[in-house]
Amino acid sequence: MRVRIVFGVLTVMATLAASAKAADNAPDPATQREFGAKLLVCNACHGNNGVPRSAAIPVIWGQQENYLAKQLHDFESGDRNVEVMEWMAKTLSQEEVSPAAANIAKKSWPARAASAAPSPPAPRGIAVCQACHAQNFLGAEQAEGMSTPRLAGQSYDYLVEAMRRFADGERTNNADMVMIMKAISPTDREAMARYLSSL
Ligand code: HEC
Ligand code: HEC
Repeated sequence: MRVRIVFGVLTVMATLAASAKAADNAPDPATQREFGAKLLVCNACHGNNGVPRSAAIPVIWGQQENYLAKQLHDFESGDRNVEVMEWMAKTLSQEEVSPAAANIAKKSWPARAASAAPSPPAPRGIAVCQACHAQNFLGAEQAEGMSTPRLAGQSYDYLVEAMRRFADGERTNNADMVMIMKAISPTDREAMARYLSSL
């Protein structure tokens, strides 16, 4: 059984590798005007310079590429249920999702203001998160081409709400995160979000 699962994964990986080789004719937003225009629409909320228009909207510039691609798929399929992003994801064709994620991941995460307050001390329990989100909370590649997202420097409002949604079972597109967040009190989640947003 296990062998069969592993074999299945390998077959998928081989297919992905084959389609990556064919990436020479993948849609390119730099040369395809319609695709380029679709990506400009994202800036209306996620910001022209990568700084989102409100604290409830996450930074996506410089986020982990595989994480971005997975979220666009999850919004499109409804596995991550957010109406505005469901429509936005549906404006992209299947072939455009990977190049869109690559394009956004290549941009620079917005710099922190020099005047920003220093980080509070690391709250208790935060070491657990580093196992998957990396020592510096910049996110990391996981097995099978998946990535955990960068958390460092994401807004407090967005982080605390994302954590609450996992805890309350409103965001279920990752079972580990649901379990982990259910086990953490709201007060501890707030302290973690405060700390992560200050990095
Ligand atoms: C009308 C505003 C709006 C537009 C336009 C928009 N987004 Fe979003 N986006 C949001 C909001 C709000 C969220 C947070 C959703 C939530 O509450 O979880 C989000 C979340 C995301 C996320 C998840 C990030 C994370 O850290 O989990 C990705 C990826 C994303 N948007 C990509 C895009 C792309 C690509 C486009 C353009 C095709 C786009 N968005 C256009 C409002 C917008
Ligand atoms: C077992 C690995 C693992 C551990 C441990 C873990 N995470 Fe995650 N986390 C993930 C994965 C994978 C995702 C992406 C889920 C998805 O596909 O949407 C994620 C997503 C998130 C998000 C959503 C980010 C966004 O942009 O929407 C937040 C916030 C988060 N984690 C915070 C934490 C915190 C805080 C801790 C520690 C208390 C933690 N995580 C521990 C694997 C982990």
